[in-house]
Amino acid sequence: MTGRVAKVTDRLRSARWYGDDEGARSSFIHRAWMRRGNPTDAPTKPQIAIASTASALAPCNAHLTDIARSVSNGVWEAGGVPLDMPVMSLGETNMRPTAMLFRNLAAMSIEEQIRANPIDGVVLLGGCDKTIPALLMAAASAGLPAIALSGGPMLTGTLAGRRLGCGTDVWRLSEEVRAGTLAPEVFADAEQSMIRSAGHCNTMGTASTMACVTEALGMSLPGTSGLPAPEARLAQAGHLTGRRIVAMVAEDLTPDKIITRAALTNAVVASSAIGGSTNAVVHLLAIAGRLGIDFDLTDIDAIGHEVDLLVNLQPSGEHLMEDFHRAGGLPAVLAQISERLDPTAITVTGRPLVDEIVGAVVHDSTVISPPEQPLMINAGLAVLQGNLAPDGAVIKPAAATPALLTHRGPALVFDSIEQFHDQIDDPELDVTADTVLVVRGCGPRGYPGMPEVGNLPLPATLLAAGVRDMVRISDARMSGTAYGTVVLHVAPESAADGPLARIRTGDMITLDVPNRRLDVEVDEVELAGREHSPGARAAYAAPTRGWSKLYVDTVQQADRGADLDFLVGQTEDTPARESH
Ligand code: FES
Repeated sequence: MTGRVAKVTDRLRSARWYGDDEGARSSFIHRAWMRRGNPTDAPTKPQIAIASTASALAPCNAHLTDIARSVSNGVWEAGGVPLDMPVMSLGETNMRPTAMLFRNLAAMSIEEQIRANPIDGVVLLGGCDKTIPALLMAAASAGLPAIALSGGPMLTGTLAGRRLGCGTDVWRLSEEVRAGTLAPEVFADAEQSMIRSAGHCNTMGTASTMACVTEALGMSLPGTSGLPAPEARLAQAGHLTGRRIVAMVAEDLTPDKIITRAALTNAVVASSAIGGSTNAVVHLLAIAGRLGIDFDLTDIDAIGHEVDLLVNLQPSGEHLMEDFHRAGGLPAVLAQISERLDPTAITVTGRPLVDEIVGAVVHDSTVISPPEQPLMINAGLAVLQGNLAPDGAVIKPAAATPALLTHRGPALVFDSIEQFHDQIDDPELDVTADTVLVVRGCGPRGYPGMPEVGNLPLPATLLAAGVRDMVRISDARMSGTAYGTVVLHVAPESAADGPLARIRTGDMITLDVPNRRLDVEVDEVELAGREHSPGARAAYAAPTRGWSKLYVDTVQQADRGADLDFLVGQTEDTPARESH
């Protein structure tokens, strides 16, 4: 060991702290407090933050502390200095009123953590639904080399010999209890059996979708997105990710060079082929907005709608993420449809995505179908427009009942999700299988936060009569694990003066997915002249302080990714003023 301070490489961003740019006293302070037993030359090496969303309150991500150790080893091995950076985490199942209210807060805080510190590159460790999007949004705006690693899905749970898909089977079993076809004790048993191990939801819900989308965007190492959380190869992927970020710093491989319009195209193709969550739409739009990429809802429909569904996973199909991994995972899916991918998009490896998937093989065609035998043709998300959704709405045809994709029926309108729950099981409710259930007040501003309540439970009377799907419409989102003929993300939302605020029970609604239309049969002048529902007004109480107020005052609508208007774009990484 020597006390001599090694020369800091000027090319590194961290040299602004550890070099003598601001004078010997300042750099002394920066270096001395960070040494803590590290080698003398540590400040001259690439400084790699490991942004970890590990938290006991985000249980899907709790194991990321272990994965961070593997990343650290890889960073040291490659000649960098790993720096643990715990960041805000978002537990999907617990946070009220919805984890989505805090996605932008997490993204903003992570971006500022990155920018304010002597960091040259970032490893993004996430998993549970909103954590990967928040990390990607932050990294896109911060503009430093970044690489993501998803924490992987949990192992398959079983109940009485049947496998359980977390999320999807909650919706299915709870409807069976309400229909009287499943004993409450069996439902209670399912609660003990569903979450079998560390990891995120094992269906093709939002977490699995965003892991795959991140890989298709090029932001994680190829082949890592479906590695089950307890598997040793995930730790290995952590090590390799740590190695790779050090090289990315040397190459100055920043997110704007990876996340391009071409990469977004590949992400939409991937999401369509795997039967991905509707939530991918809002997250991709927000990420594109951070990088100033011209990419909107119509692009998502145009790119995705001719892509066929190849992956037989819940909620669109039968299997779970462990099966997907065993069958070859995302590379095997993409290799079969490589002609649909944009060959110009590169990944964190610096190589085109299309080169990374060459030779990937499907090992089980019951999980990943061959392109000539798709599970559904034209399975991408459909973007609807019409006088009920002037700025768009989305539906996932792969999770819907085909016969309901073209439907005309009278609206039954609820002013809030609470009113819906209070009234939906009333035996006197005037409702038939043709009724269109409508809930408003659940958009970004209205709830606030755009919760996952759009997969509205069916009326108990109809469930008991054997009805298992109906057309449902809202300005909410829905869990990626859910299913049904559910129209979501109606924009503008009712709280932003959208037409949803003016429709009434009994108005005829037409859903025409093949022609991408969502309309209410009310004269335009009459609709515009109607008062907002008094109930909708009463249900809406605008926040008056704190994050919620900032959010409601500045959040954009779903068709813009529900990001805050002042967070769109990047901030130039000019050296900030010295702190001492
Ligand atoms: Fe965390 Fe589903 S609740 S991924």
